[in-house]
Amino acid sequence: MPLDFAMRVVAWQRSHGRSELPWQNTRDPYRVWLSEVMLQQTQVSTVLGYFSRFLARFPTVRALAAGSEDEVFGLWSGLGYYSRARNMHRCAQEVVARFGGAFPNTAEELQTLPGIGRSTAAAIAAFCFEQRVAILDGNVKRVLTRVLGFDGDLAVASQEKALWALATELLPAEAQSADMVAYTQGVMDLGATVCLPRKPSCIICPVSDLCEARRKGEPERYPVKSRKLRRTAQSLWMLKARDREGRIWLEKRPSRGIWAGLYCLPVYESRSLLLDQLAPEARLTAHDGHAFVHVLTHKDLHLHPVSVECEGCQSPTETGGWYRAADWISLGLPAPVRKLLSVES
Ligand code: ADE
Repeated sequence: MPLDFAMRVVAWQRSHGRSELPWQNTRDPYRVWLSEVMLQQTQVSTVLGYFSRFLARFPTVRALAAGSEDEVFGLWSGLGYYSRARNMHRCAQEVVARFGGAFPNTAEELQTLPGIGRSTAAAIAAFCFEQRVAILDGNVKRVLTRVLGFDGDLAVASQEKALWALATELLPAEAQSADMVAYTQGVMDLGATVCLPRKPSCIICPVSDLCEARRKGEPERYPVKSRKLRRTAQSLWMLKARDREGRIWLEKRPSRGIWAGLYCLPVYESRSLLLDQLAPEARLTAHDGHAFVHVLTHKDLHLHPVSVECEGCQSPTETGGWYRAADWISLGLPAPVRKLLSVES
């Protein structure tokens, strides 16, 4: 069954899989790496525009390495999970410094670079260098646990490791390494278009007759993962200071913690801490905007905007600067801050 699985996936990918995405039909590791990092937490339809803008501005890994972090964040703005952008910039710099500007050609070496985990390294090595290595992202875990009827708890490290070993056994045979591109894209495409979390389309699946989960009649039961994220909530107050010219006061966030390195409205843990910052004249103008919730992976942020009017000559907080709409629009801003500024400006 293992070899048959790979052959079927390859044949299906070539006839029914996706073939026109801008990072396909290239062996350029820079493009493949860029797309894989962007696709880590973001849908294809969203990535398309960002991918082409990024490449237009940074056509090579050397260009990206030489760019400023602010500009990288600006181009990333709206994609979220900004640690990806920071790691991407660092990775480009390491590729230049350690590898002379050429990405290494094995998954093992690729994994030593910032932001490249085991699955992303394998995807790059398979797509660009036809290396026989398994990928195992969220979509592929679903496909493989179902086909194999693997019901080990993936929250347990040893079970996850066992699934990696099985994923490696399912790869095309050594002699068929040229199939690695179609195979790797095929398991991704199956997960994204056929083997869906709820209501999988088993009827059109090329491996449904091999699928253990289907045989048992409960494909949705896989993958098994016990540990639920413990979500927390936090309230933050955001100072929206505007001067007579309509400029907004923004600070660059520290390089650690939430929204690291992005430009942001000043943030406080309570309303009174925010008000304490202000000059008495500005404090008199304070009014509360509509609070809203911004959902992060592990946390619900309850955001409370407080608007104040300032003279342009005074600085509402110690660090930061006044920005016109024409200037902040191209900065890297956290999504909720951009929303807040866009709605009312
Ligand atoms: N998600 C992750 N990698 C992908 C790829 N190469 N094509 C489409 N979706 C993906």
